[in-house]
Amino acid sequence: MSKKSIRHQEGDPETTGHSWDGIEEFDNPMPRWWLWTFYVCIFWAILYSIAYPAWPMISRATPGLLGASTRADVAAEIQEFSDRLAPIRAKLEATELTEISADPELVGYANNAGAAVFRTWCAQCHGSGAAGVQASGYPNLLDDDWLWGGDIEAIHTTITHGIRNTTDDDARLSDMPRFGADELLEKPEIAQVVQHVLAISGQEHDAELASAGAVVFEDNCAACHMEDGTGNRDLGAPNLTDAIWLYGGDVAALTDSVFYARGGVMPNWAPRLSEADIRSVSIYVHGLGGGE
Ligand code: HEC
Ligand code: HEC
Repeated sequence: MSKKSIRHQEGDPETTGHSWDGIEEFDNPMPRWWLWTFYVCIFWAILYSIAYPAWPMISRATPGLLGASTRADVAAEIQEFSDRLAPIRAKLEATELTEISADPELVGYANNAGAAVFRTWCAQCHGSGAAGVQASGYPNLLDDDWLWGGDIEAIHTTITHGIRNTTDDDARLSDMPRFGADELLEKPEIAQVVQHVLAISGQEHDAELASAGAVVFEDNCAACHMEDGTGNRDLGAPNLTDAIWLYGGDVAALTDSVFYARGGVMPNWAPRLSEADIRSVSIYVHGLGGGE
């Protein structure tokens, strides 16, 4: 249709020439305020991309003239905190282990830092509440039943060097023989000694088998678990008379323990954690309830 449509009156703005079924489009200029806002935005974007990181490149964005970096801000903040904590961490490392508990400031710091270390490095095996995982071989650290000793020095040694790992020459080490797998005991003897363990741990048992098992125990087990079965911390040999089981206290679990032996392994933490962190987590664990 032509520009002279009935809708286009004298004095109206020009039309764009587009017309749909007689409806025409005025050719109005953009509003000033809108246009200026648009130019200001472009100008701002140019300045911004010069000053700040903006254009993605292969491995990082263009850095920008101001050198702004949120990563560096975080690093600086972390550094600031560790500078602030440096004196107390140095004091923690310099104080005798057994004397730390007399200094409330050190204990306060160690418990907080130790709880954080525990959440990061220990919870996956010992459970987030340090209660271990029932019959999994990961001991409960809340109770006063200790395999390797529950005073602060023993705990510190266990954590520093670990248990039965092959990476630390000073790791806690002891190996229960594999009585079944290595044919040190006949299957009936194992069945007997298992009944004896049931007996000394106060569980239902077959009295006849158990009394034969007592002899087997005396000959084969007492050297580590002691004659009365209460265990030996120098060897990490658990107390078999309490109801606290590392691997389970029913017939099947006990038979497995005796047949194969378990040999639980814990990594050494000296290469991964600073001495201050190891001390912190030792104090945290010691303070959980079972510390001696
Ligand atoms: C990979 C799993 C694993 C991780 C991670 C781990 N542990 Fe252990 N931990 C064990 C096992 C398994 C034992 C028991 C070994 C044994 O049978 O003697 C153990 C034993 C211990 C003991 C000795 C308990 C006792 O009764 O004497 C302490 C203390 C301990 N862990 C503390 C820690 C702390 C603290 C951390 C974190 C820094 C940690 N563990 C991380 C597996 C782990
Ligand atoms: C050389 C020392 C040694 C001798 C001998 C020994 N044990 Fe053990 N026993 C251990 C140690 C160490 C552990 C802990 C193993 C681990 O954490 O992997 C253990 C663990 C066990 C457990 C698992 C306990 C639990 O809480 O789940 C049972 C059951 C057990 N022994 C029974 C016996 C019986 C029965 C005999 C004799 C036939 C015997 N042991 C002989 C050192 C010994």
